[in-house]
Amino acid sequence: MKKKKLIKALGVVLTYSLLFASCGKAEDVSISSDTSVSSTAEVLEEVDEPETVEAADEPAVEAAKKIYLDKELPVAQRVEALLSVMTLEEKAYQCVQGEQVNVSVEDVKNTGIGSVLSGGGSAPSYGNHPEHWQKRVNELKAAALETRLGIPLLYGIDAVHGNNNIYGATIFPHNIGLGAANDPELMEEIAHVVAREVRAIGVQYSFAPCLANPQNERWGRTYEGFSEKTADVAKLAGPFVAALQGNVKGDEYMPEDAVIACAKHYIGEGYTTEGVNQGNVEMSAAEFDELLAMGVLDPYKACIDNNVLTVMPSYNSIDGLKCHENKHLLTDVLKEQLGFKGMVISDYNAIGQCKGTYDEEVANCMNAGVDMFMEAQEWDRCAQTIIKLVKAGKISEERLDDAVSRILRVKFMSNMFDEEVGSAHENELFGEFGSEENREVARRAVRESLVLLKNGNVDGKLAMEKIKEATNITVCGSGAFDIGRQCGGWTISWQGEAGNITLGTPIVQGIYDEVKEYAKVSHSVRGELDAASDVIVTVVGENPYAESDGDVKPSDLKPISGDVKLLENIEKQIVANGNDPLKVLIVIAGRPIDINDYVDKYDAVVMAFLPGTEGEGIADVLFGDYDFTGTLPITWLKDFKKIDEKHELPESEILFPYGYGLNKTGELLIRE
Ligand code: BGC
Repeated sequence: MKKKKLIKALGVVLTYSLLFASCGKAEDVSISSDTSVSSTAEVLEEVDEPETVEAADEPAVEAAKKIYLDKELPVAQRVEALLSVMTLEEKAYQCVQGEQVNVSVEDVKNTGIGSVLSGGGSAPSYGNHPEHWQKRVNELKAAALETRLGIPLLYGIDAVHGNNNIYGATIFPHNIGLGAANDPELMEEIAHVVAREVRAIGVQYSFAPCLANPQNERWGRTYEGFSEKTADVAKLAGPFVAALQGNVKGDEYMPEDAVIACAKHYIGEGYTTEGVNQGNVEMSAAEFDELLAMGVLDPYKACIDNNVLTVMPSYNSIDGLKCHENKHLLTDVLKEQLGFKGMVISDYNAIGQCKGTYDEEVANCMNAGVDMFMEAQEWDRCAQTIIKLVKAGKISEERLDDAVSRILRVKFMSNMFDEEVGSAHENELFGEFGSEENREVARRAVRESLVLLKNGNVDGKLAMEKIKEATNITVCGSGAFDIGRQCGGWTISWQGEAGNITLGTPIVQGIYDEVKEYAKVSHSVRGELDAASDVIVTVVGENPYAESDGDVKPSDLKPISGDVKLLENIEKQIVANGNDPLKVLIVIAGRPIDINDYVDKYDAVVMAFLPGTEGEGIADVLFGDYDFTGTLPITWLKDFKKIDEKHELPESEILFPYGYGLNKTGELLIRE
């Protein structure tokens, strides 16, 4: 579970805004007794005595129900009918999303909260298998139907590389690997599988895709971006969104096995100084507008063209102003200029990083264009604050009605009003969760995401030809037998974790299955070599991380210390054994890391990024008949100390340029 959420687990209710305002980072929250001072009291003194808002009378509600529950009618008409009978309270609660650990079935019935999320690693208290999720999600969804107006509950999850929180899900390569694959048709296939595995547990909404353009891989979210180039992101994200949402057009209704997408995090992600997560893009507002015009908006345009139903602002700031409170970017550019008709959902407790008291944060963000507030712990306070601010005239009724209409539109379009909770269709999909067929799509994605960086000459043959002669293979390194490492962050838990955290095929298992008819395969964690080995495959890279925990100093962009020792040990042993096996290096990492010293020493080098659960995709290419087709979506430097000036460096400083990749016959691939 996220650190931020541990607070609730301890049963402490805090006011975070003061802390956020002082430290600026959501992750820095600590528990301290003087943080419980609420800013609400100050504002209450300023406002008029609240008026009582009456619920619409029963006959009016019955008449409205005839319209909004009629699935034959157009979405807009249903939204209008429902909105016309909602009280201020009902509207305000539609605008909030709480974390599932902080929302009980009774809370849903009593407040009519609009949405619930599971943040990274937030599984139901009784278990993390699909059936546990289905039970938890559906008990909350069923509770919403018992409220006065029966407005269904929207459940959101971070299905960022498969339905990755749930044990046994099919886990795909992280986005940077899909950026290397650079295949829009593959993105559609993936979206289709993800949507079905998400729908199988009753969830209708995924906070994906991430449209970041990582420019500085010190950033811990580099792997969540497809590419450093905006055009690549647009090319891949558009088809992904379309397929995830079942190719829904205009105000149509989505098909049953589609999921609401979320283009995130708007905007400027990847451009912060020194790659700091949630940091500042140091440009004036006018300079930033120029950057937008030069392509930074294109991924968002592509998603909007494909009818993306939600957008999440970024934690980062532009010229010191947080995106969440930036009316120019959220309303003028996103909603008006780009014509985005869906809902804007704030990021996890992100409004707490904006300036002012809690009331000011809510007012400023809502007036800037936020429609739904992801307030993990403070959802109830947030709804009450919206009510108070509307009564005080600090948020207009029109703004609130616009926000609620956008939320309801998403709910109607995704069939939430027309579907049974735990429908037969959901149960059908449940049977396919983590199926062989779904895993085949992920395996293909792994194959396509691999980038061959070196294919050296060995005894007059290219390494990738020579490898076919293998009879005795030693696979080295803990990463070769570690599903957690090959999946990276956002897998089962928020940060991810090394070890056998879920079902899948480790890299060494995939190699064994591929070559077992003709070669012996052994695995050595520390690189103890069999003198008879003719091929050595060494797997090195990073340990899992997510968000700010992945931010590093330039000098830390390198293989983990255990892997560095492994590389040294292998070198010594080769000398001691006096033989000369074919040496292949496989890197599993969310970003380029310093492998300079080893590129010369290895005959072949493969960047595998974070491939996910289907490790046999690597063996398919390395030892099977598939060729390498992936190319780098990100520039790879020689000297990571120079990373902060990356884009100003001469070619001589680049180890592998953007777009680089070879095939088995040594040709340089062309990235299109
Ligand atoms: C991340 C988002 C994510 C949200 C919900 C935030 O910390 O920035 O990408 O969707 O948490 O888990």
